[in-house]
Amino acid sequence: GRVVVLFGGNSAEREVSLRSGAAVLAALERSGVDVIGYDPADGGLVGLEALAPDRVFIALHGRGGEDGTLQGALELLGIPYTGSGVLASALGMDKQRTKLVWQALGLPTPESLMLAADSNWEEIVATLGLPLIVKPVHEGSTLGITIVDSRETLEAAYREAARYDARVMAERFISGEEYTVSLLEERVLPAIRVEVPSGFYDYEAKYNSDDTRYHLPCGLDAEQEAALGALCRQAFEAVGGEGWGRVDVMRDAQGKFWLIEVNTSPGMTDHSLVPQAAAHAGMGFDELVLRILRTTLE
Ligand code: DAL
Ligand code: MG
Repeated sequence: GRVVVLFGGNSAEREVSLRSGAAVLAALERSGVDVIGYDPADGGLVGLEALAPDRVFIALHGRGGEDGTLQGALELLGIPYTGSGVLASALGMDKQRTKLVWQALGLPTPESLMLAADSNWEEIVATLGLPLIVKPVHEGSTLGITIVDSRETLEAAYREAARYDARVMAERFISGEEYTVSLLEERVLPAIRVEVPSGFYDYEAKYNSDDTRYHLPCGLDAEQEAALGALCRQAFEAVGGEGWGRVDVMRDAQGKFWLIEVNTSPGMTDHSLVPQAAAHAGMGFDELVLRILRTTLE
């Protein structure tokens, strides 16, 4: 039957999704799948239905594609789709409520506070310390995120994040190493350590820079990597994640892991992390895409 790859969309991560979608589409074409790409920003759900898909590969990122709304619509239309369902998609898009779930289960995640225009900035700094990190609650690809080094710049960081989202949070900054773990069906793929010369793995470092270093193998010993993988599996299952996803983690100077966020529709561009982890596990991009597609059958 026909597969439709959904990409583009209206979110702030549209450009990333166009790249993810183009890569996924090309892979499925190489594999001889009857496939067509569709940008829901152009024709909405009506246009999608008109294509009569048997299954949908979601290569959308951010709101309207990764946040449960599309997943709910596809459920109602009876069209199987890749990845997580409504609840996990919605929860994973909400960085703050994801943390509440992790905390309730005793999983380690840095302390955070919600911000508002009239927040007591002194109190935020006193609670979380400096530096701290300010984030839009529902955003991806590091958009709207600032590492704040002084109390004076906190309010400006809040305003920057508020351009992206009505809900903004501040999180204690974990200085140390950044890791990411990809999950595919029952497998935990090799962890990657990301190292950025500028020190901040932001949008530029994610998609445009050639200076970002991806350490694979990640440099942890086997026991530590297994513990990291098990933590990420737990974190993914805690939000109800299904099929595939990626969990981002910081490791502090004492070697303790801190869960940062879960991504239920991770990037699939040529710079992206899940394809690199899969390749290190001996799985080429085309096979990875076919495996993710297969998760629609479950
Ligand atoms: N939000 C981007 C696409 C990622 O997590 O890979
Ligand atoms: Mg994310």
